[in-house]
Amino acid sequence: PQLDASTGAALTLRSGESGLLPGRSTPTWGANGAILGPTLRARRGARVSVAVTNRLPETTSLHWHGMHLPAVADGGPHQPIAPGATWRPTWTVEQRAATLWYHPHLHRTTARHVYRGVAGLFLVDDEYSDTLPHDYGVDDVPLIVQDRNVTRDGRLDEANLGFGGLATTGLLGDTILVNGGYDPYVDVVTRRVRFRLVNGSNARVYSFGFADHRAVTLVATDAGWLETPVRCTRLRLSPGERAEIVVEFEPGERVVLRSWPPELGGNVLTQRLAGGDDTFDVVQVRAAATLRPSPAVPERLTTGVRRPAITVAEPFRLELGEFHLNGAVLEHGRIDRRVAPGSVERWEIRNPGQNVHNVHVHGASFHLLDRDGAAPPETERGEKDTVFVPADSTVTLAVRYGTHVDARTPYMYHCHLLAHEDAGMMGQYVVV
Ligand code: C2O
Ligand code: CU
Ligand code: CU
Repeated sequence: PQLDASTGAALTLRSGESGLLPGRSTPTWGANGAILGPTLRARRGARVSVAVTNRLPETTSLHWHGMHLPAVADGGPHQPIAPGATWRPTWTVEQRAATLWYHPHLHRTTARHVYRGVAGLFLVDDEYSDTLPHDYGVDDVPLIVQDRNVTRDGRLDEANLGFGGLATTGLLGDTILVNGGYDPYVDVVTRRVRFRLVNGSNARVYSFGFADHRAVTLVATDAGWLETPVRCTRLRLSPGERAEIVVEFEPGERVVLRSWPPELGGNVLTQRLAGGDDTFDVVQVRAAATLRPSPAVPERLTTGVRRPAITVAEPFRLELGEFHLNGAVLEHGRIDRRVAPGSVERWEIRNPGQNVHNVHVHGASFHLLDRDGAAPPETERGEKDTVFVPADSTVTLAVRYGTHVDARTPYMYHCHLLAHEDAGMMGQYVVV
Protein backbone atom coordinates (compact mmCIF):
# COMPACT_ATOMS: atom_id res chain seq x y z
CA PRO A 1 0.00 0.00 0.00
CA GLN A 2 0.99 3.62 -0.56
CA LEU A 3 0.16 6.65 1.56
CA ASP A 4 0.39 10.25 0.37
CA ALA A 5 2.44 12.02 3.05
CA SER A 6 1.48 15.46 1.74
CA THR A 7 -2.10 15.00 2.90
CA GLY A 8 -0.92 13.72 6.29
CA ALA A 9 -0.08 10.06 6.81
CA ALA A 10 -0.56 7.96 9.93
CA LEU A 11 1.74 5.14 10.96
CA THR A 12 0.97 2.92 13.93
CA LEU A 13 3.88 0.81 15.12
CA ARG A 14 2.54 -2.48 16.44
CA SER A 15 3.27 -6.13 16.95
CA GLY A 16 1.63 -8.93 15.00
CA GLU A 17 2.02 -12.38 13.52
CA SER A 18 3.51 -13.01 10.06
CA GLY A 19 3.36 -16.17 7.98
CA LEU A 20 7.04 -16.05 7.01
CA LEU A 21 7.55 -19.77 6.59
CA PRO A 22 4.87 -22.20 5.37
CA GLY A 23 2.65 -23.49 8.16
CA ARG A 24 4.24 -21.40 10.90
CA SER A 25 3.41 -18.06 12.39
CA THR A 26 6.18 -15.69 13.44
CA PRO A 27 5.76 -12.86 15.94
CA THR A 28 6.95 -9.67 14.20
CA TRP A 29 6.64 -5.90 14.42
CA GLY A 30 5.46 -3.54 11.73
CA ALA A 31 3.78 -0.24 10.89
CA ASN A 32 0.01 -0.47 10.27
CA GLY A 33 0.49 -4.21 9.71
CA ALA A 34 2.32 -7.23 11.09
CA ILE A 35 5.66 -6.68 9.28
CA LEU A 36 7.20 -3.63 7.54
CA GLY A 37 4.97 -0.66 6.77
CA PRO A 38 3.22 1.21 3.95
CA THR A 39 5.16 3.14 1.32
CA LEU A 40 4.95 6.86 2.00
CA ARG A 41 5.13 9.14 -1.00
CA ALA A 42 5.42 12.87 -1.68
CA ARG A 43 6.48 15.22 -4.45
CA ARG A 44 9.40 17.56 -4.24
CA GLY A 45 8.17 20.86 -2.79
CA ALA A 46 5.30 19.29 -0.83
CA ARG A 47 4.74 19.97 2.84
CA VAL A 48 4.42 16.58 4.52
CA SER A 49 3.33 15.46 7.96
CA VAL A 50 3.27 12.03 9.52
CA ALA A 51 1.65 10.97 12.79
CA VAL A 52 3.68 8.10 14.25
CA THR A 53 1.91 6.28 17.08
CA ASN A 54 3.85 3.76 19.11
CA ARG A 55 1.73 0.77 20.12
CA LEU A 56 4.83 -1.33 20.79
CA PRO A 57 5.74 -2.35 24.35
CA GLU A 58 9.01 -0.35 24.18
CA THR A 59 10.16 3.17 23.45
CA THR A 60 11.38 3.53 19.87
CA SER A 61 11.89 6.23 17.22
CA LEU A 62 11.32 6.50 13.48
CA HIS A 63 14.05 7.97 11.28
CA TRP A 64 13.59 9.11 7.65
CA HIS A 65 16.80 7.72 6.20
CA GLY A 66 18.12 9.97 3.42
CA MET A 67 15.60 12.76 3.91
CA HIS A 68 16.83 16.34 4.04
CA LEU A 69 14.86 17.89 6.86
CA PRO A 70 15.23 19.86 10.09
CA ALA A 71 17.02 17.86 12.80
CA VAL A 72 13.94 17.94 15.10
CA ALA A 73 11.99 15.97 12.45
CA ASP A 74 14.81 13.48 11.73
CA GLY A 75 13.61 10.73 14.07
CA GLY A 76 17.01 9.76 15.42
CA PRO A 77 17.84 8.94 19.04
CA HIS A 78 16.86 12.48 20.09
CA GLN A 79 13.19 12.03 19.12
CA PRO A 80 12.09 8.99 21.18
CA ILE A 81 8.44 7.89 21.04
CA ALA A 82 7.24 6.34 24.32
CA PRO A 83 4.70 3.50 24.28
CA GLY A 84 1.26 5.01 23.70
CA ALA A 85 2.67 8.34 22.45
CA THR A 86 2.29 9.94 19.01
CA TRP A 87 5.09 11.89 17.34
CA ARG A 88 4.10 14.36 14.61
CA PRO A 89 7.03 15.55 12.50
CA THR A 90 6.36 17.87 9.59
CA TRP A 91 8.71 19.19 6.90
CA THR A 92 8.99 20.34 3.31
CA VAL A 93 10.41 17.90 0.77
CA GLU A 94 13.30 19.75 -0.83
CA GLN A 95 15.23 17.03 -2.59
CA ARG A 96 15.08 15.38 -6.01
CA ALA A 97 13.31 12.08 -6.73
CA ALA A 98 14.78 9.28 -4.61
CA THR A 99 14.07 6.02 -2.84
CA LEU A 100 14.33 6.71 0.89
CA TRP A 101 13.34 4.48 3.77
CA TYR A 102 12.25 4.76 7.39
CA HIS A 103 13.29 2.67 10.37
CA PRO A 104 13.70 2.90 14.18
CA HIS A 105 16.81 4.63 15.48
CA LEU A 106 16.91 4.51 19.26
CA HIS A 107 20.36 4.06 20.74
CA ARG A 108 21.11 0.41 21.63
CA THR A 109 17.80 -0.97 20.32
CA THR A 110 17.98 -0.14 16.61
CA ALA A 111 19.24 -3.60 15.60
CA ARG A 112 16.43 -5.40 17.42
CA HIS A 113 13.62 -3.08 16.35
CA VAL A 114 14.60 -3.17 12.66
CA TYR A 115 15.12 -6.94 12.81
CA ARG A 116 11.62 -7.45 14.20
CA GLY A 117 10.26 -5.73 11.12
CA VAL A 118 9.78 -2.00 11.62
CA ALA A 119 10.77 -0.35 8.31
CA GLY A 120 9.24 0.96 5.11
CA LEU A 121 9.85 3.15 2.08
CA PHE A 122 9.47 6.87 1.54
CA LEU A 123 9.48 7.70 -2.17
CA VAL A 124 10.13 11.23 -3.38
CA ASP A 125 8.85 12.18 -6.84
CA ASP A 126 9.80 15.17 -8.95
CA GLU A 127 9.23 16.58 -12.43
CA TYR A 128 11.37 13.85 -14.03
CA SER A 129 9.70 10.90 -12.27
CA ASP A 130 7.35 10.01 -15.12
CA THR A 131 10.14 9.35 -17.63
CA LEU A 132 10.98 5.98 -16.04
CA PRO A 133 8.55 3.10 -15.39
CA HIS A 134 6.42 4.37 -12.49
CA ASP A 135 3.33 2.19 -12.19
CA TYR A 136 3.85 1.16 -8.57
CA GLY A 137 3.72 -2.59 -8.05
CA VAL A 138 3.44 -3.22 -11.81
CA ASP A 139 6.57 -1.92 -13.53
CA ASP A 140 7.98 0.00 -10.53
CA VAL A 141 8.65 -2.61 -7.88
CA PRO A 142 10.32 -2.08 -4.51
CA LEU A 143 12.55 -4.88 -3.19
CA ILE A 144 13.37 -4.42 0.51
CA VAL A 145 15.94 -7.17 1.09
CA GLN A 146 16.55 -8.42 4.63
CA ASP A 147 18.11 -11.54 6.10
CA ARG A 148 16.72 -13.33 9.15
CA ASN A 149 17.27 -16.46 11.18
CA VAL A 150 14.03 -18.25 11.91
CA THR A 151 13.93 -20.95 14.58
CA ARG A 152 12.25 -24.31 13.96
CA ASP A 153 9.15 -23.23 15.82
CA GLY A 154 8.91 -20.16 13.62
CA ARG A 155 10.31 -17.42 15.87
CA LEU A 156 12.83 -14.79 14.81
CA ASP A 157 16.14 -15.90 16.28
CA GLU A 158 17.67 -12.89 18.03
CA ALA A 159 20.66 -14.75 19.44
CA ASN A 160 23.34 -13.03 17.35
CA LEU A 161 21.97 -9.51 17.04
CA GLY A 162 25.08 -8.12 18.70
CA PHE A 163 28.61 -9.14 17.87
CA GLY A 164 31.17 -11.14 19.71
CA GLY A 165 34.11 -13.46 19.26
CA LEU A 166 34.88 -13.99 15.61
CA ALA A 167 31.43 -12.80 14.49
CA THR A 168 32.18 -9.11 14.15
CA THR A 169 29.40 -7.87 11.87
CA GLY A 170 26.29 -8.57 13.92
CA LEU A 171 23.55 -10.87 12.75
CA LEU A 172 23.84 -12.60 9.37
CA GLY A 173 20.70 -14.60 8.56
CA ASP A 174 20.28 -17.55 6.22
CA THR A 175 16.66 -16.72 5.36
CA ILE A 176 16.22 -13.92 2.85
CA LEU A 177 13.00 -11.92 3.05
CA VAL A 178 11.89 -9.53 0.32
CA ASN A 179 9.24 -6.98 1.35
CA GLY A 180 8.72 -9.11 4.46
CA GLY A 181 8.00 -12.32 2.53
CA TYR A 182 9.92 -15.56 2.04
CA ASP A 183 10.69 -17.22 -1.33
CA PRO A 184 9.21 -14.39 -3.41
CA TYR A 185 8.51 -14.06 -7.11
CA VAL A 186 7.26 -11.18 -9.16
CA ASP A 187 5.02 -11.42 -12.23
CA VAL A 188 5.98 -8.88 -14.86
CA VAL A 189 3.73 -7.75 -17.71
CA THR A 190 5.89 -5.04 -19.30
CA ARG A 191 9.10 -5.19 -21.31
CA ARG A 192 11.01 -3.06 -18.81
CA VAL A 193 10.68 -3.02 -15.06
CA ARG A 194 12.23 -0.67 -12.55
CA PHE A 195 13.30 -2.25 -9.29
CA ARG A 196 14.04 -0.17 -6.20
CA LEU A 197 16.58 -2.21 -4.25
CA VAL A 198 16.89 -1.44 -0.55
CA ASN A 199 19.36 -3.21 1.69
CA GLY A 200 17.33 -3.21 4.90
CA SER A 201 19.48 -5.86 6.59
CA ASN A 202 21.24 -5.48 9.91
CA ALA A 203 24.70 -6.43 8.69
CA ARG A 204 24.69 -8.32 5.39
CA VAL A 205 26.31 -6.87 2.28
CA TYR A 206 24.76 -8.01 -1.02
CA SER A 207 26.12 -8.08 -4.55
CA PHE A 208 22.96 -8.13 -6.66
CA GLY A 209 22.99 -9.58 -10.15
CA PHE A 210 20.86 -11.85 -12.32
CA ALA A 211 21.55 -15.59 -12.57
CA ASP A 212 22.12 -15.27 -16.35
CA HIS A 213 24.51 -12.31 -15.82
CA ARG A 214 22.42 -9.94 -17.94
CA ALA A 215 23.31 -6.28 -17.75
CA VAL A 216 20.86 -3.97 -15.99
CA THR A 217 20.57 -0.20 -16.22
CA LEU A 218 21.39 1.62 -13.00
CA VAL A 219 19.35 4.83 -12.84
CA ALA A 220 19.62 5.95 -9.20
CA THR A 221 21.80 5.56 -6.13
CA ASP A 222 20.80 6.37 -2.50
CA ALA A 223 20.07 10.07 -2.81
CA GLY A 224 18.53 10.17 -6.27
CA TRP A 225 18.83 9.74 -10.01
CA LEU A 226 22.07 9.66 -11.94
CA GLU A 227 22.40 12.23 -14.70
CA THR A 228 23.06 9.45 -17.18
CA PRO A 229 22.28 5.73 -16.77
CA VAL A 230 25.04 3.16 -16.17
CA ARG A 231 25.01 -0.44 -17.46
CA CYS A 232 26.24 -3.03 -14.99
CA THR A 233 25.89 -6.71 -14.10
CA ARG A 234 26.62 -6.54 -10.35
CA LEU A 235 25.66 -4.05 -7.72
CA ARG A 236 27.10 -4.16 -4.22
CA LEU A 237 24.87 -2.65 -1.52
CA SER A 238 25.75 -2.50 2.17
CA PRO A 239 23.12 -1.98 4.92
CA GLY A 240 21.12 1.21 4.35
CA GLU A 241 22.19 1.67 0.71
CA ARG A 242 19.65 1.78 -2.15
CA ALA A 243 19.75 1.59 -5.93
CA GLU A 244 17.19 1.78 -8.71
CA ILE A 245 17.67 -0.40 -11.78
CA VAL A 246 15.69 -0.86 -14.98
CA VAL A 247 15.73 -4.41 -16.36
CA GLU A 248 14.54 -5.72 -19.73
CA PHE A 249 12.68 -9.01 -20.01
CA GLU A 250 11.73 -11.37 -22.83
CA PRO A 251 8.17 -12.71 -23.07
CA GLY A 252 7.62 -15.92 -21.11
CA GLU A 253 11.06 -16.05 -19.51
CA ARG A 254 11.90 -16.84 -15.89
CA VAL A 255 15.06 -15.49 -14.34
CA VAL A 256 16.33 -15.16 -10.79
CA LEU A 257 17.86 -12.10 -9.19
CA ARG A 258 20.62 -13.31 -6.88
CA SER A 259 23.07 -12.02 -4.40
CA TRP A 260 26.58 -13.16 -5.35
CA PRO A 261 29.60 -13.27 -3.03
CA PRO A 262 30.34 -9.59 -2.31
CA GLU A 263 33.81 -8.03 -2.33
CA LEU A 264 34.44 -7.19 1.32
CA GLY A 265 38.20 -6.55 1.43
CA GLY A 266 40.47 -7.91 4.14
CA ASN A 267 41.63 -11.48 4.60
CA VAL A 268 39.98 -14.75 3.63
CA LEU A 269 38.81 -15.66 7.13
CA THR A 270 37.23 -12.31 8.05
CA GLN A 271 35.60 -12.09 4.61
CA ARG A 272 34.00 -15.48 5.09
CA LEU A 273 32.75 -14.60 8.58
CA ALA A 274 31.22 -11.41 7.19
CA GLY A 275 29.24 -13.31 4.53
CA GLY A 276 31.76 -12.87 1.70
CA ASP A 277 31.23 -16.43 0.40
CA ASP A 278 27.43 -16.41 0.50
CA THR A 279 25.10 -16.69 -2.50
CA PHE A 280 21.31 -16.31 -2.22
CA ASP A 281 18.34 -16.26 -4.53
CA VAL A 282 16.58 -12.97 -3.90
CA VAL A 283 13.53 -13.00 -6.16
CA GLN A 284 12.30 -14.92 -9.19
CA VAL A 285 10.95 -12.89 -12.09
CA ARG A 286 8.19 -14.50 -14.20
CA ALA A 287 7.50 -12.68 -17.43
CA ALA A 288 4.06 -12.97 -19.03
CA ALA A 289 3.73 -14.61 -22.48
CA THR A 290 3.21 -11.19 -24.02
CA LEU A 291 4.76 -8.06 -22.59
CA ARG A 292 3.48 -4.51 -23.00
CA PRO A 293 6.08 -2.20 -24.54
CA SER A 294 7.88 0.24 -22.21
CA PRO A 295 9.66 3.44 -23.20
CA ALA A 296 13.46 3.23 -23.45
CA VAL A 297 15.48 4.65 -20.56
CA PRO A 298 16.33 8.25 -21.51
CA GLU A 299 19.99 9.00 -22.18
CA ARG A 300 19.79 11.95 -19.85
CA LEU A 301 17.76 11.16 -16.73
CA THR A 302 17.83 14.40 -14.80
CA THR A 303 19.97 17.49 -14.20
CA GLY A 304 21.78 19.11 -11.31
CA VAL A 305 23.54 16.04 -9.89
CA ARG A 306 27.07 17.40 -10.34
CA ARG A 307 29.43 17.21 -7.43
CA PRO A 308 29.68 20.59 -5.68
CA ALA A 309 33.04 22.22 -4.97
CA ILE A 310 34.54 21.79 -1.49
CA THR A 311 34.03 24.95 0.59
CA VAL A 312 35.70 23.94 3.87
CA ALA A 313 39.50 24.29 4.01
CA GLU A 314 40.32 21.39 6.35
CA PRO A 315 39.23 17.83 5.52
CA PHE A 316 37.43 15.82 8.19
CA ARG A 317 39.40 12.66 8.90
CA LEU A 318 37.30 9.76 10.16
CA GLU A 319 38.91 6.55 11.34
CA LEU A 320 36.64 3.52 11.71
CA GLY A 321 37.82 1.57 14.74
CA GLU A 322 36.60 -1.58 16.45
CA PHE A 323 33.92 -0.40 17.31
CA HIS A 324 34.19 3.35 17.59
CA LEU A 325 34.75 6.47 15.46
CA ASN A 326 38.03 8.31 15.92
CA GLY A 327 38.45 6.46 19.21
CA ALA A 328 35.13 7.58 20.72
CA VAL A 329 31.69 6.04 21.14
CA LEU A 330 28.43 7.99 21.13
CA GLU A 331 27.72 10.14 24.15
CA HIS A 332 24.37 11.82 24.13
CA GLY A 333 25.39 15.20 25.48
CA ARG A 334 28.53 15.51 23.36
CA ILE A 335 28.42 17.38 20.05
CA ASP A 336 31.31 16.07 17.97
CA ARG A 337 31.20 18.55 15.11
CA ARG A 338 29.81 21.94 14.13
CA VAL A 339 29.31 22.65 10.43
CA ALA A 340 28.03 25.61 8.43
CA PRO A 341 24.68 25.39 6.61
CA GLY A 342 25.09 24.39 2.96
CA SER A 343 28.83 23.91 3.28
CA VAL A 344 30.67 21.16 1.40
CA GLU A 345 33.36 19.28 3.29
CA ARG A 346 35.91 16.70 2.27
CA TRP A 347 35.71 13.51 4.39
CA GLU A 348 38.68 11.18 4.42
CA ILE A 349 37.48 7.86 5.82
CA ARG A 350 39.90 5.13 6.75
CA ASN A 351 39.07 1.59 7.80
CA PRO A 352 42.44 0.17 8.84
CA GLY A 353 41.08 -3.08 10.31
CA GLN A 354 39.88 -6.44 9.04
CA ASN A 355 36.18 -5.77 9.71
CA VAL A 356 33.72 -4.24 7.28
CA HIS A 357 31.90 -0.99 8.06
CA ASN A 358 29.98 1.67 6.27
CA VAL A 359 29.27 5.34 6.91
CA HIS A 360 25.86 7.02 6.76
CA VAL A 361 25.39 10.76 7.26
CA HIS A 362 22.02 12.22 8.27
CA GLY A 363 20.74 15.51 6.89
CA ALA A 364 23.31 15.52 4.07
CA SER A 365 24.23 13.77 0.86
CA PHE A 366 27.58 13.19 -0.73
CA HIS A 367 29.59 12.17 -3.77
CA LEU A 368 32.46 9.70 -3.69
CA LEU A 369 35.74 11.31 -4.70
CA ASP A 370 37.87 8.21 -4.60
CA ARG A 371 38.22 4.67 -3.32
CA ASP A 372 41.70 3.63 -2.26
CA GLY A 373 43.13 6.51 -4.22
CA ALA A 374 41.42 5.61 -7.51
CA ALA A 375 38.30 6.99 -9.17
CA PRO A 376 35.19 5.35 -7.70
CA PRO A 377 33.42 2.73 -9.84
CA GLU A 378 30.75 4.09 -12.19
CA THR A 379 28.03 2.48 -10.08
CA GLU A 380 29.01 4.75 -7.16
CA ARG A 381 29.21 8.05 -8.99
CA GLY A 382 25.71 9.24 -8.13
CA GLU A 383 24.57 11.16 -5.08
CA LYS A 384 24.59 9.01 -1.95
CA ASP A 385 24.01 9.08 1.80
CA THR A 386 25.60 5.76 2.79
CA VAL A 387 28.94 4.39 1.63
CA PHE A 388 30.48 0.95 2.11
CA VAL A 389 34.01 0.89 3.52
CA PRO A 390 35.54 -2.58 2.98
CA ALA A 391 38.13 -3.95 5.38
CA ASP A 392 41.53 -2.29 5.08
CA SER A 393 40.42 0.46 2.71
CA THR A 394 39.87 4.20 2.37
CA VAL A 395 37.20 6.32 0.76
CA THR A 396 37.01 10.07 0.24
CA LEU A 397 33.73 11.97 0.02
CA ALA A 398 32.47 15.46 -0.75
CA VAL A 399 29.69 15.89 1.84
CA ARG A 400 27.16 18.65 1.32
CA TYR A 401 25.30 19.61 4.50
CA GLY A 402 21.71 20.78 4.69
CA THR A 403 20.59 24.31 5.37
CA HIS A 404 18.44 23.87 8.49
CA VAL A 405 20.24 25.61 11.35
CA ASP A 406 19.64 24.26 14.86
CA ALA A 407 22.34 24.59 17.51
CA ARG A 408 20.53 22.33 19.97
CA THR A 409 19.46 19.31 17.93
CA PRO A 410 22.17 17.19 16.31
CA TYR A 411 22.17 14.99 13.23
CA MET A 412 23.97 11.65 13.44
CA TYR A 413 26.70 10.02 11.36
CA HIS A 414 27.43 6.39 11.97
CA CYS A 415 28.22 2.90 10.80
CA HIS A 416 24.98 1.38 9.44
CA LEU A 417 25.86 -2.16 10.50
CA LEU A 418 23.23 -1.98 13.21
CA ALA A 419 25.18 -3.86 15.89
CA HIS A 420 28.05 -1.41 15.42
CA GLU A 421 25.70 1.56 15.51
CA ASP A 422 24.10 0.28 18.72
CA ALA A 423 27.57 -0.16 20.23
CA GLY A 424 28.08 3.58 19.79
CA MET A 425 29.94 3.72 16.49
CA MET A 426 28.18 7.03 15.92
CA GLY A 427 28.88 10.73 16.20
CA GLN A 428 26.72 13.84 16.15
CA TYR A 429 26.98 17.19 14.42
CA VAL A 430 24.99 20.39 14.50
CA VAL A 431 24.44 22.86 11.68
CA VAL A 432 25.11 26.37 13.00
CU1 C2O B 1 19.33 4.49 8.32
CU2 C2O B 1 21.06 6.82 11.07
O1 C2O B 1 20.13 5.62 9.76
CU1 CU C 1 19.71 8.15 8.21
CU1 CU D 1 30.75 -0.90 11.50
